[in-house]
Amino acid sequence: MYDVNLADFVVRREQLWQIAEKFRGEIEKSLNGKESSLKMLSSYLSPAIGNEQGSFLALDFGGTNVRLLEVLLQGQGRLTVQRKSLFPLRTEGVDYTAENTDSLQLFGYLAAKIREFVEPERHYRLGHTFSFPFSQSKANEAVLLVWTKEFKTCGVEGKNVTDLLSQALMAQGLSNVEPVAVLNDTVATLLAASYQYRHVTIGAICGTGHNSCYVERCGREPVIMNLESGNFSTELFTVWDQKLDQSSVYPGQQRLEKQVSAGYLGNLATLIARSVYAETQSNSAGFTGQDLADFLSAKSWKAVRKLAEERGFQLNRSECEFLIRLSRALVFRSARLAAASFCGILFHCDRDLQERHRIAVDGSLYEKMPGYRAALTEALYEIYGEKADQIQTLLMKDGSGMGAAVAAALASKRHLA
Ligand code: BGC
Repeated sequence: MYDVNLADFVVRREQLWQIAEKFRGEIEKSLNGKESSLKMLSSYLSPAIGNEQGSFLALDFGGTNVRLLEVLLQGQGRLTVQRKSLFPLRTEGVDYTAENTDSLQLFGYLAAKIREFVEPERHYRLGHTFSFPFSQSKANEAVLLVWTKEFKTCGVEGKNVTDLLSQALMAQGLSNVEPVAVLNDTVATLLAASYQYRHVTIGAICGTGHNSCYVERCGREPVIMNLESGNFSTELFTVWDQKLDQSSVYPGQQRLEKQVSAGYLGNLATLIARSVYAETQSNSAGFTGQDLADFLSAKSWKAVRKLAEERGFQLNRSECEFLIRLSRALVFRSARLAAASFCGILFHCDRDLQERHRIAVDGSLYEKMPGYRAALTEALYEIYGEKADQIQTLLMKDGSGMGAAVAAALASKRHLA
């Protein structure tokens, strides 16, 4: 009935292994200064020990909502979020992610929100999670290389976002807020986990975007490297992946992210549904990653019909059942590809799994998508067999916010040392 073959989305066991091996190769090419799809950006931070202490401000910037947190690190691996606030980047008047806004507007808006959050008399050390690819030469510098996740704000690429933030804070009279560290959300997730647990090797985000970092131990001190793994290419593309890529803001880039992340899974399902139901649908709104989760947890096809109708699709029973199968195929592929990339990192760090490894993951897919964690774990076992007992994945909820506070503590400690 449909010209979509769901078997095309299946990643077989031997393909998992090949992807992991290719991923390891890309890491090692990059470490050896050769051209690679992985940017391997040093964070200038080592994993936490768990004894870091103090109260810190965290700015978590990486999706269409921004979070501000005040986090207390108590030592002995204990940390508490004391206050938090959430605000959108798309407001009624302005969309700060769009190309008709610029860095001054964006950072001015962030600083104004910080002003509402802080007490004027107190001094704050701020950790800034900035969930995009950036290069740095020290812990409180971040030069944005390229926007991802369809962000387009002008005047930020090529700039040091810590300077942009500091200037905006000054303009708001906030000399009491001192940005001391800036880090990627994967690094933050790894730091939040290493504050509380031992053996944390990998930090990853499986949410609106996708990326991983890991602890590289080849130098004198262990250092966390942001892989920007979303830019890896599995080369296993269906015609739908190609179409999605061509219609995206940055064709040819972030190919793994376009197969793994929740944002793009919704787009892929929309693209396929629009094509399959072309004769009956018009002006349909797109599906989101959350819609896919709802399809997979729906109690009956009628619940799917209702959800699809809200998005502008009038579907019959077999079409609804197809949508559920499609969602499952996309979600399973995402989990299996993410698992293969994690194994690629482990192939590099400890090929035979002589040691235990924890993989800390934050993001809506891992946290909430039905079947995601099970599919990811199953793929780890398909690659490593019984040895995968040495690997534990753990949910690090709010890791990207808490880790910013841990980074601020580490950067302050280093500064005082
Ligand atoms: C960004 C990464 C980020 C990931 C998850 C990607 O689009 O390039 O830096 O870690 O999204 O938020």
